[in-house]
Amino acid sequence: MGRASSPSPVRTITNGKSISTTNSTPPRSTQNAAPGVAMIEICPLADLPAGEAKRVLVPPHPPIAVFHTEDGAVYALDDTCTHQDASLADGWVEDCRVECPLHASTFDLRTGGVDQPPAKVGVRAHAVTVQDGTIYVELSDETPNLPPGVSYGASA
Ligand code: FES
Repeated sequence: MGRASSPSPVRTITNGKSISTTNSTPPRSTQNAAPGVAMIEICPLADLPAGEAKRVLVPPHPPIAVFHTEDGAVYALDDTCTHQDASLADGWVEDCRVECPLHASTFDLRTGGVDQPPAKVGVRAHAVTVQDGTIYVELSDETPNLPPGVSYGASA
């Protein structure tokens, strides 16, 4: 299977529109691409309509947020804001950034970089591949930047 070496290319994103979200049970299959790096089958692209985001539980890793933008690009970030325990999948998307639903720091969907406080550090961005109509995410092997008091099995 071919894999992207970085998140999907940038395209236009709906201005100021909140994307709807759904929680997800853990993906049904995981393939190990390399030690510590997991390629995860998320869901069929058709199950994540354009303009929506999905919180995906990937224990023991922190949950990820998968975004399918209005123009068809797909991105994946760590779902938990680095400021406090908020789900970025519940945020607002504009100009290839997602705004945290609690305090409005925004994160770049391509890189996870943050551009304004109160969050001071970015989230991890994960490589996304859509193959044969199915979304796959390759988890970053970087250390996640979780907010104080939040931990998950692999990141504790
Ligand atoms: S919880 Fe995200 S900016 Fe505060």
